[in-house]
Amino acid sequence: MKNLVSASLLGCDLADLKNEIKSIEKAGADWLHCDVMDGVFVNNISFGTPVLKCVRKAASVPMDTHLMITDPIRYIDDYAGLGSDNITFHLEAASDPQAVIDKIHSHGISAGISIKPGTPVSEVKPYLGSVDMVLVMTVEPGFGGQKFVADTLEKISEIRYLLDSMGRSEVNIEVDGGVNGETVKLCREAGANVFVSGSYIFGAEDRKAAVNSLK
Ligand code: DX5
Ligand code: ZN
Repeated sequence: MKNLVSASLLGCDLADLKNEIKSIEKAGADWLHCDVMDGVFVNNISFGTPVLKCVRKAASVPMDTHLMITDPIRYIDDYAGLGSDNITFHLEAASDPQAVIDKIHSHGISAGISIKPGTPVSEVKPYLGSVDMVLVMTVEPGFGGQKFVADTLEKISEIRYLLDSMGRSEVNIEVDGGVNGETVKLCREAGANVFVSGSYIFGAEDRKAAVNSLK
């Protein structure tokens, strides 16, 4: 399975968005990870549709939108409409997760479901048959630059095992939070193949080397 790097915009200089996007694409990032926060589901507010519309125009790589918002079904049309290639929402934030997955798929794009570090695999299991990606948060969502939570590794292995035994090995497992050149190895071993990184790659002196170290 192909290893992919999804560069988290939250880690870049947001006042210089266009150049940062170009720089990280040149460094070899496969996807652009866009963290939308509403100040309710998480204790932070980031950016929303007006910014992401401009990001879409400036970027050439696929847009990997991560919605950390309450009741995400309300905003699927907006984030699909502006050109997201994947939309990931939080299981904990949705009253009917299957309806959210179906709504994302109705736009012909990839659907991801995410769980916070404290959410057990049993809760996401019913949706493994219909999603294209599972995002296992490796920190509490809300902020970049946090320390990797190693307890989450077991959940990654369990999800990979379940997907393989369902004949759905093609489903991506993405990890997000505290991913760097060291922690990525643990995630890869556990069965993840999409690596979100903000502070590690944008803060690196040699961004190309940093991106490469995650593949
Ligand atoms: C956190 C966000 C992440 C964040 C990762 O809630 O979902 O995407 O930007 O940042 P780093 O890579 O710095 O941990
Ligand atoms: Zn994220």
